[in-house]
Amino acid sequence: MNILCIGAGYVGGPTMAMIALKCPAVKVTVVDINAARIAAWQSDTLPIYEPGLQEVVSACLGRNLFFSTDVDSAIAAADMIFVSVNTPTKTFGQGAGRAADLQYWEKTARQILANSKSDKIVVEKSTLPVRTAAAMQRILDSGGGDVKFEVLSNPEFLAEGTAIKDLQNPDRVLIGGHDTDAGRRAVAALVGVYAHWVPRERILTSNVWSSELSKLAANAFLAQRVSSINALSALCEATEADVSEVSRAIGMDSRIGAKFLNASVGFGGSCFKKDILNLVYLCETYGLTEVAAYWQQVVSMNDYQQDRFVRNMLGRMFNTVSGKRIALFGFAFKKDTGDTRESPAIRIARQLVEERAQVVIHDPKALANAKVDLRDLGDLVQYEPDPYVAAEGAHAIALMTEWDCYATLDYQRIYDRMMKPASLFDGRNRLDHAALYKLGFNVYCIGKTALSHL
Ligand SMILES: NC(=O)c1ccc[n+]([C@@H]2O[C@H](COP(=O)([O-])OP(=O)(O)OC[C@H]3O[C@@H](n4cnc5c(N)ncnc54)[C@H](O)[C@@H]3O)[C@@H](O)[C@H]2O)c1
Repeated sequence: MNILCIGAGYVGGPTMAMIALKCPAVKVTVVDINAARIAAWQSDTLPIYEPGLQEVVSACLGRNLFFSTDVDSAIAAADMIFVSVNTPTKTFGQGAGRAADLQYWEKTARQILANSKSDKIVVEKSTLPVRTAAAMQRILDSGGGDVKFEVLSNPEFLAEGTAIKDLQNPDRVLIGGHDTDAGRRAVAALVGVYAHWVPRERILTSNVWSSELSKLAANAFLAQRVSSINALSALCEATEADVSEVSRAIGMDSRIGAKFLNASVGFGGSCFKKDILNLVYLCETYGLTEVAAYWQQVVSMNDYQQDRFVRNMLGRMFNTVSGKRIALFGFAFKKDTGDTRESPAIRIARQLVEERAQVVIHDPKALANAKVDLRDLGDLVQYEPDPYVAAEGAHAIALMTEWDCYATLDYQRIYDRMMKPASLFDGRNRLDHAALYKLGFNVYCIGKTALSHL
């Protein structure tokens, strides 16, 4: 069997590497229009950082895993084509700021049609609005030739930072297909691929629309939990309740569960915001105004939490940060990834620069992406590979990402070289607040009473 994946990004690369690893008899090719990205996949410096990814790629590269920019030939040779191109939020025209931008998706569909001389199973791996498979099918059928296409939905649930673990041992794999003979055969073929390593009871099959909607729903529910605990964090700060204690108490209720209840500076990443906005737009399109407003509030709460963080920094630093050096520890949207898409650190860095702070950014893996995200700010932001140098002469440190390395720094050394009073704003509630306070820091966390010497 020849499997092709169009789109060699955060999803296409790791997902196909795992299929190649687990299915040695299958030839897996991953193509992309971005030649630099393809070259990086073939080198020792992969285009994305993900724990364990290098080992998986190295085991299969050149054996049954291939990367290429020759999209047309790869389509012609494939039996099954995963489409994993980007589906960002539309920035123009109708639905701008909310709807999914499907231009890359549609181009891919037309390219598949133009280059197919044999029947293909086309698998939606990208996250898409409900009923996109119908549009895909219409484009593929518009050729009017003998070649038959069967479109399946197989959304990806991996989380960046733990992608390899998630792919190796997924909670579930979801495959949506049509209830026709051809549809059932296509579903069985894809089930057969995953069955090489995923227990059969974790491979769910459903109709195409449920599958498409389940991905949007899963991201909406996850983001909603973050916004729910963050909403309570503001109330905790006002009432001297402690959000970690509240999380623990409610998380032990088996109906609620303990995961995804950490208060923080907010969620980021390329998916949560984009997918909820997409859901909101879909609801509005179907006239479901109240449902749209309900989910919109999850995004609004996330923006509020980030703005509140900066407001708190200003308030605690005598209502001005102008000219003050502020070290941001972390820029990636979460630990163990270099991905900065929609990272809360972007909005916070920009607001601090607007307040004329001297912002210095440290991150173990995301400095290159940070420079791209903030390139319009030029010299107003510094990027520093050494956290001790970043904090030297600073009035404040703000922890933006929960990288493990920040918990083990020598904070005595850092404190000694900072301006006084030295403030530490823990946007992830990950540091040892009592110990930092003892060293002399004024410590401000999310949803907890401040530990301040002032
Ligand atoms: N990143 C995640 O954690 C995650 C998780 C689950 C689902 N998803 C979804 O998966 C999809 C891909 O996400 P990603 O993070 O991998 O995006 P990405 O931007 O990292 O990768 C997409 C790739 O597709 C390529 N591409 C675009 N048009 C192309 C074309 N016509 N031919 C060939 N290549 C083309 C781009 O050059 C890019 O390299 C999105 O729909 C996203 O919502 C992402």
